[in-house]
Amino acid sequence: MAEVARAGAGAIVTKSVGTEPRAGHPSPCVVELNVGLLNAMGLPNPGIDYFAGEISEAKKAGVPIIGSVFGGTEEEIAELASAMARAGADGVELNLSCPHAKGYGAEIGSTPQMVELVCRKAKHGLGVPLFAKLTPNTSDIAALARAAERGGADAVVAINTLKGMAIEPEARMPILANKVGGLSGPAIRPVGIRCVYEIFEAVKIPVVGVGGISSGMDAIEYIMAGAGAVQIGTAVWSLGLDVFSRTNKEILRFMEENGFKTIQDMVGVAHPGGH
Ligand code: DHB
Repeated sequence: MAEVARAGAGAIVTKSVGTEPRAGHPSPCVVELNVGLLNAMGLPNPGIDYFAGEISEAKKAGVPIIGSVFGGTEEEIAELASAMARAGADGVELNLSCPHAKGYGAEIGSTPQMVELVCRKAKHGLGVPLFAKLTPNTSDIAALARAAERGGADAVVAINTLKGMAIEPEARMPILANKVGGLSGPAIRPVGIRCVYEIFEAVKIPVVGVGGISSGMDAIEYIMAGAGAVQIGTAVWSLGLDVFSRTNKEILRFMEENGFKTIQDMVGVAHPGGH
C-alpha cells in the first residue's frame, strides 16, 4: 500500500477483509486472458484483527486508506466496518459484489432490499464515509445504487468484476479450480461506463468508477459518465505501478487542452445538458 501511495495514487482501497483468516480458493485461481484477467481468489485475507495492524502501517504513507470488507450477514458486515474504522481506516467500502464466493459478495448484494439493509446497519454509528461497491451482474444496477443511497451509503462504487468462465479445450475442463470467477480489465470498461452513466442519473450521492481503467483517457471516460473519482486495479498487474503517475499526467494534460479547471467540471458532462 505504501508503494502504491508513493506511485501517485490519491487514496487506496484494500483487498477485501473478513472476520476470520481465509486461505481462499485452490489454484488455478487466476487466468490471464487477452482481454483481461479472470480470477477466483476466494477472498483470501488474514482476518480483521491482523489487518488492523496493516491499516496503521499503511496510514503512514499519507493518503486516505479505505478498508474493503465482506461478510455473510448484515451484522457481520456492520461489525467489520466498525472494526475497520476503529483501526484508522478513513472510509469503508462494502464488497457487495464478489461474483462467486458462496454466501458472500454478490449473494448479499444482488437485491435492493439486502443492499439497503446492509448499508443501513454498516453506516449506523460508523463515523467515516461508507462506500457500497455494487455488482454489474444484475439487470438493474441503478436500483441497487438507489437502495445503497436509501441505506445511508455516502457513495457507490461501480463496478466489481463480471462473472465469467474460461475452458481449456485440451483439458476439456474449466481452467479455474472454482470454475467461475470475476472478469476484470479492458473488456469490462464499456460495461462499467454504462453502469456509472445509469447510476449517475439515479442517485445524488457521488459515484466512484472502476473497471478496465489503464490510462488518463479511460479515467476521463468514467468521469464524464458521472464518476467523481476512479479506481485502478487490474492495470497495476498489467502495466505496473507507473500507471498511477501516467494516468494523473494524462488527465491533467487533457484538462489543460480542453479548458477544464477541476475534475468536478468534467463529472457527468456526457449526459444530456451536461456539457
Ligand atoms: C474476488 C473478489 C472480488 O470482489 C472479485 O470481484 C473477484 C474475485 C475473490 O477474492 O475471489
